[in-house]
Parts: sequence; C-alpha cells; structure tokens
Amino acid sequence: MIELPRHVAIVMDGNGRWARRRHLPRAAGHRAGVGATRKIVEVCVERGLCALTLFAFSSENWRRPRTEVSLLMELFVSTLQREVGTLHKNNVRVRFIGGRDTIAANLLHHLEHSEQLTADNSGLQLNIALNYGGHWDIAQAARRLAEKVESGALRAADVSPQLLADEISLAGLPAPDLFIRTGGEQRISNFLLWQLAYSELYFTDKLWPDFDRSDLETAFAWFAGRQRRYGRTGEQVEQKENNV
Ligand code: IPE
Ligand code: IPE
Ligand code: MG
Repeated sequence: MIELPRHVAIVMDGNGRWARRRHLPRAAGHRAGVGATRKIVEVCVERGLCALTLFAFSSENWRRPRTEVSLLMELFVSTLQREVGTLHKNNVRVRFIGGRDTIAANLLHHLEHSEQLTADNSGLQLNIALNYGGHWDIAQAARRLAEKVESGALRAADVSPQLLADEISLAGLPAPDLFIRTGGEQRISNFLLWQLAYSELYFTDKLWPDFDRSDLETAFAWFAGRQRRYGRTGEQVEQKENNV
C-alpha cells in the first residue's frame, strides 16, 4: 500500500478547452466537469482521505462573460441540490471557503443548507472554494487579527505565523499534502497561497472533464515517491524514517 496524501487540493481546469475541442459551447465543458468532480469525490471517500479542497470559482472568475458566470452559478445550485443527499449519505462534511458577500441569495441558501446538513459528518471533509482568492484569504485573516489588536485582546508584537494560520480558511485541517492542477497550466492562480507552502505540486495536461480515477491514482503514486524534507536534508529524513 502506498502512502496516501491526507489532504488533496485541486485546481479543476480545462473545461472550456474540453468543450472547444468538441466544437461545443463552454457550458458543455462545465457540465462535463461536474461529472468528473463527482467521480473524484467518490474515490476520495473510498480511499478514506481526510480532506479534499476543490477550486470551483476564483475571485477573478467574475471577469468572465456575464453569461458564463451565471451559467456557473446555476450549475453550482443545481449540482448542490442534486448531490447533497448522496454526500450526506457518504458521511461527507461539506464546507465552502471564499467571500460570501457577492454570492446571490439563492446560491447562498444552498451553500448554508449543505454545510448545516453535513456539519456532524465524520468522513471526508470536502471544501469547495467559491469566490475564493488566496490574497483575500490572507487579508481576511489579517483583518481578524487586527480586530483583536484593536479590541486589546492581542498585542501586535504577538502576531505570529501560528496565529495567522488559526484565522485562515481551512484552519484546523492538515495543510494540503498534494496539489493537483489539470489543464496543462503550471500556476496557482491565487488558490491557497498560505496553505500550499509545503504541498507537493502535481501538474497534468489532462483536461478536468477527462480526469478520472486512474489519473488520480497516478497522482497518488507520484506523491508517494516524493521525499518531504521541510527544510531538512535527505539524510536526516531517511534517518528519521528508519527510526520509526
Ligand atoms: C475551469 O475550467 C472551470 C472554472 C474556472 C470555473 P476553465 O473554464 O477555466 O477551462 P479553460 O481553462 O477555459 O479550458
Ligand atoms: C482557476 O482556473 C480557477 C478555477 C479552476 C476555479 P482559471 O482557468 O480561472 O485560471 P487562470 O485564469 O487561467 O489562471
Ligand atoms: Mg481555465
């Protein structure tokens, strides 16, 4: 048995190009992407992962044509409506990360409902990043610390990486061990900037709608071959492994 990552974070990219190659509208690519997402969540449940964090919509994706943005928002609503029961049955705990102020009331209702329904589940922690940006995340954490300083509960001199980590999205979860980006681009696109500090970064040309169980297993196998040194030397890490 290979060592699995506890927490996987995925930038699900390539829906538009998948559709374009088939001479289909981009909407068809996004719909096909939902199918891929469902299967990947299933595999993560089966394999007993602790957490899966999916980039569904970035704070920059509002720059897309209005019709594509509304299509994506409708797709989030219909997918949540359809899938939340199965997720709940599979003991998945759903949580959304990202700013909520610009999310339409109807979608917000479904986000909150799925979070509440699954709040006590103890299986896979499924985090969906929607209207999420890494810059936003660090700024909101900094703002919360500033509020504590303002109220006198904290001294500025005591602000530390640990205190910021306590305020950032996904606090309390192990940081992502494995970051996957499909679609061939090798960039982070303002995803989990703070949380990815020591993640192993895996890029594949596969477009998201085509990314399946075997592709995920390939990424897991690649991950199992990494030596995670966290600043130490390879020899130190080997010694530690041999002592265990
Ligand atoms: C990712 O696929 C989905 C979202 C950003 C919502 P894209 O829509 O970015 O697909 P490409 O990059 O155009 O192929
Ligand atoms: C990142 O993909 C966001 C999501 C997958 C939701 P993009 O396709 O928007 O990223 P860029 O703009 O090409 O970097
Ligand atoms: Mg893209």
